[in-house]
Amino acid sequence: MAEQFDVVVIGAGPGGYIAAIRAAQLGFRTACVDDWTMADGKPAPGGTCTNVGCIPSKALLQSSEHFEHAGHAFAEHGIDVKGLAIDVTRMLARKDKVVRQNNDGILYLFKKNKVAFHSGTGSFAGGAPGAWQIMVEGSGAASLVAKHVIVATGSKPRALPGAPFDNKLVLDNDGALAIPEVPRKLGVIGAGVVGLEMGSVWRRLGAEVAILEALPVFLSAADEQVAKEAWKLFAKQGLAIELGIKITKVVAAKDIAVEYDDVQGKKRSARFDKLIVSIGRLPHTSGLGADVVGLELDERGFVAVDGDCKTNLDGVWAIGDVVRGPMLAHKAEEEGVAVAERIAGQHGHVDFNTVPWVIYTSPEIAWVGQTEQQLKAAGAAYRAGMFPFSANGRARALGDTRGFVKFLADAETDRILGLHAIGPMVSELVSEGVVAMEFGAASEDIARICHAHPSLSEAVKEAALAVDKRTLNL
Ligand code: FAD
Ligand code: NAI
Repeated sequence: MAEQFDVVVIGAGPGGYIAAIRAAQLGFRTACVDDWTMADGKPAPGGTCTNVGCIPSKALLQSSEHFEHAGHAFAEHGIDVKGLAIDVTRMLARKDKVVRQNNDGILYLFKKNKVAFHSGTGSFAGGAPGAWQIMVEGSGAASLVAKHVIVATGSKPRALPGAPFDNKLVLDNDGALAIPEVPRKLGVIGAGVVGLEMGSVWRRLGAEVAILEALPVFLSAADEQVAKEAWKLFAKQGLAIELGIKITKVVAAKDIAVEYDDVQGKKRSARFDKLIVSIGRLPHTSGLGADVVGLELDERGFVAVDGDCKTNLDGVWAIGDVVRGPMLAHKAEEEGVAVAERIAGQHGHVDFNTVPWVIYTSPEIAWVGQTEQQLKAAGAAYRAGMFPFSANGRARALGDTRGFVKFLADAETDRILGLHAIGPMVSELVSEGVVAMEFGAASEDIARICHAHPSLSEAVKEAALAVDKRTLNL
């Protein structure tokens, strides 16, 4: 006998589990189906983000940053460390514990909000608007019927043609987060977010890291001035990044041999102990039974949706990495909340222009809104204000004065169009730009707001003052 629900969510990544909680909060009888399990077979809700993405990568970034500080930054503070060593097994065990805490937290939230959780693969078995049939196969096997279905099945790593992932030598994000000992030579294909973050982790721990990137420009999505500064700082750290390359052959045997054409078209080769392939991700729709009900996919395999995350089927919605837009956990979450609220007849809303981006390298890179090159291309009249952390007292006390904060504001109205930053803890500072933009603030508003002293956030205020050429501390 099929169980009846108002809302069934397929996938318990940040998009799916948040959508399920919000739907339950709104009074809907809600179920969430997810097939991710731990090695011991226990359910592991949280999707890519919790299991092999945001959370474990930040755990390793933290561990490796502590190691690097102990080795290179402590001495300046008068702290001598003798016999410094990294125990990778313990570091990975800590990361696994952090992941498990997050898995358990989601299971707890499901219970608290009365979301029926089914561990297993969910697929469309048929039905029609008002009564979609979902079959669950796995330990939580069940037959469900729902008025609304939210597809939140996420994404999976894209492999390099001719170099399938084995997670021993050729690693996807899962393998990159579980290398059992520091490789001597680590190759990374793709200088995107995963490549830079994971390359940073293993470089800090002692690996020689070479990153090979197909595009001739570095971090093309970021503001040019930020990308230029990042390029300089990463080179100084010893991250060897080569742009404009074309991989021609990868042979994985005892180690990995990579052949490629460099930016001038010259034949080059390199050997690595491990190779991380981080060249983007693909939508995950296999096993969903999209064809059974005629759920439309676009030409790139994403579930086709409109601006409200509605699919071509009445009562079927899709959110997160499996649909168009940036592949970010917080974007997936916002879409999840908005869809649950739309189902309830409310006006759920996601503003793509104020979705922040963060790259958790050292220094961190963060931005929201338009870049200077986008404004130039659009012929927009704007004013820019920049403030370096080298003139910020808290950054000096921290011992990290790299980078800057930059505001871009409309030349006429002064409305903030973008905030771009590279430096210490800018992942936190970018929120000020997001809030300001959501409230339609002008740079003058930020310039006139009292910021705590000494704090890194004063660099944000000073950058706003710089728009009007009246910084106080520079
Ligand atoms: P997912 O998190 O992929 O979850 C989908 C879930 O659905 C999975 O559990 C999957 O197994 C399950 N599923 C799929 N098909 C079925 C089915 N038929 N039945 C049942 N279950 C199914 N983003 C950030 O914003 N910040 C970061 O710091 C960040 N770091 C990242 C680091 C790495 C290494 C990677 C790879 C990604 C990172 N991301 C980060 C991106 C982020 O992980 C994704 O944008 C986010 O997880 C997308 O959420 P989602 O809910 O759409 O899908
Ligand atoms: P990405 O899109 O960020 O970067 C992929 C890079 O690989 C690009 O620079 C691309 O030009 C390059 N590339 C593509 N094909 C190539 C080839 N054949 N040879 C060499 N280079 C090639 O994708 P990435 O890093 O895999 O991350 C996937 C997604 O996960 C991203 O969309 C990102 O949004 C998300 N993510 C977010 C994080 C965060 O928010 N901090 C952290 C990690 C991932």
